[in-house]
Amino acid sequence: MKFFTQLKKSEVKGKTILLRVDLDIHSEDVSQSLRLERAIQSIRYTRNQKARVIILAHRGRPVFKNTISNFKFLISNKEKKELSLEPFVKILEKELKEKVVFVPDVLNGKDIISQSSYSIFLCENLRFYEGETSNDLAFAKKLAQLGDVYVNDAFANSHRAHASMSAITRFIPSYAGMELSREIGILDRILKKPKHPFVAILGGAKVSDKIGLLQWFVRFTDTILTGGGIANTFLDWCGYEVGKSIRDNLSSVQMFVKYPSIQIPRDTIIENNKIYDIGSKTIAFYAQEIRRARMIIWNGPVGLTDVKKFQKGSRALWRAIQSHARSHKDVLVLIGGGETVSFVRKESKKIPQNIFLSTGGGALLEYMSGKKLPALSALDKNKE
Ligand code: 3PG
Repeated sequence: MKFFTQLKKSEVKGKTILLRVDLDIHSEDVSQSLRLERAIQSIRYTRNQKARVIILAHRGRPVFKNTISNFKFLISNKEKKELSLEPFVKILEKELKEKVVFVPDVLNGKDIISQSSYSIFLCENLRFYEGETSNDLAFAKKLAQLGDVYVNDAFANSHRAHASMSAITRFIPSYAGMELSREIGILDRILKKPKHPFVAILGGAKVSDKIGLLQWFVRFTDTILTGGGIANTFLDWCGYEVGKSIRDNLSSVQMFVKYPSIQIPRDTIIENNKIYDIGSKTIAFYAQEIRRARMIIWNGPVGLTDVKKFQKGSRALWRAIQSHARSHKDVLVLIGGGETVSFVRKESKKIPQNIFLSTGGGALLEYMSGKKLPALSALDKNKE
C-alpha cells in the first residue's frame, strides 16, 4: 500500500487529487460529526500540498426505482433532497475559508472542473449512480478520468467494494490518505501488539453485528464488560428476568457463555419492564476493571444514551476511562461506533491524546474481526 503523506510536496503540487472521504452523516447536527472533522483535516492537508481537490463521497442508501441511463437511476425527489451532499458546500467553505464548487453530476464533472479557476470541488452523492455500489469498471474509469491521483481517506467505507473505493484503483495511481493511515495504524497497534490487562466494553442496541467482534474479544482481551442488547441477551441466557428489553436470540450468544472473561451487569436500571442502563454496583465494578487496564476498546454505549436519565452508566465509564488515560500515558484507548463516539464528543471537548476515536462503524467491526477490507486490498494491488 502506498501512502499519500509519503509523497513529496513537489510530486503533488498542481495535481488534481480525487479524495474519497466518508460524509455518510445522519446526526441532527452534521457540523459536529467526527467524520466531517476528519474529512476537513484531509482536505486541508491536500490543499496545503498545493493540489486541487475533487471530493468524492456518499450518503445513505438511496432506494432505486428505474434505470434512466447507463449509470443513473431514478430516485425519489425526497431522497434526492435528504441524501444530497450539497448542504456540505457551505459547511466546508466556512471551515476551509475557500470557495467549494458543487458538481451536481459527476459524469459531466470534467467540464465544470477544467473550466473553473477554483481548487475545491464536491461531487454529488455517488450512490445516486448505479455504477457505484455495483463496483462498475466503466463508472470507476469515468471517475478516475477526473483527476491525476486517487486518495482513499474513507476508512469508514472501506468494507464496501464500491467503484469509488475499489474499482477506481485500477485506473489511476492510488494512495491511502492521512486519516485512513492513522486509523489502520492504531488498529494494527492494538491487533498486533495487545497490551494486558486488555479490557473491552461492548454495548449498543444491536447484537448480531457485534458477534464477530465478540469472537475477537474472547481470544485477545482479558475482560469484556457488557451492556445494552448484548448484556440483556446474556442475562436472559443466565435465567434473569429481562422483560421486554432489547435482546437477540439466545443462540447468538450460546457459543460465548463458556468464557469467564465476559462480564454481565450485576444490577440494571429498569423502567416499564425494560432494561435501559447498568446500575451503580455494575458501574463500580466496571470502573475498577477500567482502572487496571493498559489497553481499552469501547464499542457501543452501556445504556440508552439518547435519553438523558439513561446516560449515567456510559458517562461514569467515560469518566473512568478519561481519568485513567490522563494519569497513565502508556494506556491506549480505542473508541468506535457512531453512538459511542458522538456520546463522548458531546461529553468532552478535550479528549486525551492516548484516546483514539474511530470513524468506522461496520468497517471497524469487520477490520477487528480479522477480515481484509476490500478497499484496502484494492490499494494493495494498485501498482501505478
Ligand atoms: C458507514 O456508515 O458505516 C459507511 O459509510 C458505510 O455505509 P453503508 O453501511 O450504507 O454501506
